[in-house]
Amino acid sequence: MPDQPGRTLSLARGLPRLIQGGMGVAISNWRLARAVSQAGGLGVVSGTALDRVLACRLQEGDADGHVRRILARFPDQALAQRVVQRWFVPSGIATPGAYRQVPLIDHRPAGDSLELLVAAGFAEVALAKDGHTGPVGINLLEKIQVANPAILYGALLAGVDAVLVGAGIPREFPALIAQLCAHEPGHLTLRVEGGQPGENVRVDFAPRELLGGARLPTLARPPFLAIISSDVLAQSLLRSTDGQVDGFIVEGAIAGGHNAPPRGGGHLSDIGEPIYGPRDLPDLGRLRQLDRPFWLAGGYGTADGLARASAAGAHGIQVGTLFSLCRESGMEESLRLRVLGLAANDEAHVFTDPLASPTGFPFKTVAVPGTASDRSVDAERIRICNIGLLRQAYRRPDGDIGWRCPAEPEAAFLAKGGAAKDLTGRKCLCNALMATAGFALAAPGGGREPALVTAGNCLAAAGLGLHHDLGAGDLVAALLSGSPLAGASATGNPSAHHRHGFAAQTGPA
Ligand SMILES: Cc1cc2nc3c(=O)[nH]c(=O)nc-3n(C[C@H](O)[C@H](O)[C@H](O)COP(=O)(O)O)c2cc1C
Repeated sequence: MPDQPGRTLSLARGLPRLIQGGMGVAISNWRLARAVSQAGGLGVVSGTALDRVLACRLQEGDADGHVRRILARFPDQALAQRVVQRWFVPSGIATPGAYRQVPLIDHRPAGDSLELLVAAGFAEVALAKDGHTGPVGINLLEKIQVANPAILYGALLAGVDAVLVGAGIPREFPALIAQLCAHEPGHLTLRVEGGQPGENVRVDFAPRELLGGARLPTLARPPFLAIISSDVLAQSLLRSTDGQVDGFIVEGAIAGGHNAPPRGGGHLSDIGEPIYGPRDLPDLGRLRQLDRPFWLAGGYGTADGLARASAAGAHGIQVGTLFSLCRESGMEESLRLRVLGLAANDEAHVFTDPLASPTGFPFKTVAVPGTASDRSVDAERIRICNIGLLRQAYRRPDGDIGWRCPAEPEAAFLAKGGAAKDLTGRKCLCNALMATAGFALAAPGGGREPALVTAGNCLAAAGLGLHHDLGAGDLVAALLSGSPLAGASATGNPSAHHRHGFAAQTGPA
């Protein structure tokens, strides 16, 4: 196994023991990441759909002025001004949801799109880092290949302290990060369904072409953490990236958001959830041997979470669900309060939906009346693909590259050669997650797009001490010190927490 001791390893070991989940879209926004970072954790902003979030904030009038204030620090002021001119609406859009749409992007994004992506990556990280010295990371979904290089570059320009990538196998990221830190061109290889073996379609990004003559800062390479669910993937990543993975976040099947599918196939439980078993637990002994720090995620937001993880040889924990419901969370406020209410009354039901996500990966949903978890709400929704982040590239019969998503209008998907069976149960996560963060677009059938809440199984355990007054700082202090969270037994229902966690494997490192 290639091993690059010294600087590489110590970089990630210097990161805090508590990492706040990178939660998209805009659940972990700059405010949450900043608060966590100031309190002693690694605050993480979500990179998902940041361009659209920035465009919405500017169209809402940027009332507190933060976006324009921070873009005034962007190294290329002409670029920053173009972005503001294109999207800023001084008095805010008159009708809620009537945002001007950000154009969909493919593997050759137009200059305007790239400018918005870079500015958005920069602004979110720079705001999260503003006015303190705590570390801030960015979380990217590997699957969103076309947007990632430009958002990542913006984040690097803002001095991001860690890059976390999951939802795919991020083999090309270490090289991309190194190239972009040197302001050199970088690329990702586009996955094309139905492509010829050996064909190589790239998503290229050339910083100097975009930023022209601007004076560019010297950038230090931040540590790269791969989000994985198996030790086998960790080993394979180290081999295929010459060891340039600085650490791992090991996510269990009870974590919020997307989950890795269970090994061994598509069997579902009586209530229609994927069935996970012992084979889905990573071998922590093997992980310990890889000589990289790792953080355990999925049900560790408890008073004893850090101690359990440390006993298993982990450097720390990553916690998402708790932070997604704290005061600084980017979740739309009335929705956040409703979810907290459900949790407090033991009525928060979390379902691991095997179909909802266009990616085909299981996705956890919380049953909240009036949101897309509600079958009748989803059935009434008129499909539209106007954000398009989860579209998959495919080779068209005429040789060109096309883009399709099983949550787009059925006829369009079928006309592009998509399989009818893939349409079943799919939800438009792009629109739903924008809505959850308070940026619901106008829906084609009238009204606004419905939201969809995701959370880990620990939410249903209802013993987390969730209380709407908890701030991120309170959570960080409690989790780091192992104290019960205010107002409740912090460990909750152990069987629910640990069912698919790693607790059974704990033992001295
Ligand atoms: C609301 C929410 C959104 C999430 N979104 C993402 C995401 O976009 N990308 C990702 O890698 N992980 C995502 N996660 C997973 C978290 O980063 C974290 O690993 C997980 O929440 C830890 O488990 P816990 O939910 O039991 O605390 C999300 C989790 C939540 C609760």
